[in-house]
Amino acid sequence: MTAQIIDGKAIARSIRKQLKTEVTRLRQEGTTPGLAVVLVGDNPASQIYVNMKKKACKEVGIYSEEHKLAANISQGDLFSLIDRLNADQNIHGILVQLPLPQGLNEQEVLERISVTKDVDGFHPVNVGKLVSGFDAFVPCTPAGVMEMLTHIACDISGKKAVVIGRSNIVGKPVAQLLVNANATVTICHSQTKELEEECRAADILVVGIGRPEMIKRDWIKPGAIVIDVGINRVNQAIVGDVDFHQVSEVAGWITPVPGGVGPMTIAMLLRNTVVGAQSSK
Ligand code: GUN
Repeated sequence: MTAQIIDGKAIARSIRKQLKTEVTRLRQEGTTPGLAVVLVGDNPASQIYVNMKKKACKEVGIYSEEHKLAANISQGDLFSLIDRLNADQNIHGILVQLPLPQGLNEQEVLERISVTKDVDGFHPVNVGKLVSGFDAFVPCTPAGVMEMLTHIACDISGKKAVVIGRSNIVGKPVAQLLVNANATVTICHSQTKELEEECRAADILVVGIGRPEMIKRDWIKPGAIVIDVGINRVNQAIVGDVDFHQVSEVAGWITPVPGGVGPMTIAMLLRNTVVGAQSSK
């Protein structure tokens, strides 16, 4: 093994510590940051993520409330809840856990959330601001990836970054943030030809495709920074999209799974909620 580990768990812990100080200050001034998490249906993975988010809120002093709705709720009823949360002065962040059950229009639901409470950064207005390089809520996983690069003092400017995956949650916003930081960015996806060669050119490789341990040793440029956004359950174990044991023999830096990007995502959600509370004053 030659790669250094980027310890997301430790970085996230130190961010939470800083946030706790800021939350204490806000509370003394009479504002308790508040997050509303909306979970529709009974996707077990989503319930686990929501529980982790609530626990993290509690740890730093953010008020959180969970709204659990039946999978067959009408879009109108879901809109009524979002409208109520948009108007609630105690709520500074609203997160509707994705994916939504069939029958609900994800785009319309995300557009219903107030732009100023959109701590996921999924509202088209916030997406547009991100693309324009304006100040906006940045989606949590991509923000966490960038924070990890900052933590290892990576000079992104001029580097060749390859992002595998083009989801609205990870791939597209991560690629945009890397462009904004002056990287030369390639987005790869299921239709990409010569995927291995694309990967081998990367100084920074970000992988979010949901395929367990797909990225192998000989796909990696020696010394590259490899950020694994995958969370896959294989038998009882959780593994990433990168074959950690193989790739850590070639890469310069690598994130583990678990304990890499996952805790960073939650830390960024807390940060966005605190920023929402600060901006509401
Ligand atoms: N599902 C998977 N990741 C996310 C996320 O970051 N936010 C929301 N709302 N749903 C998700």
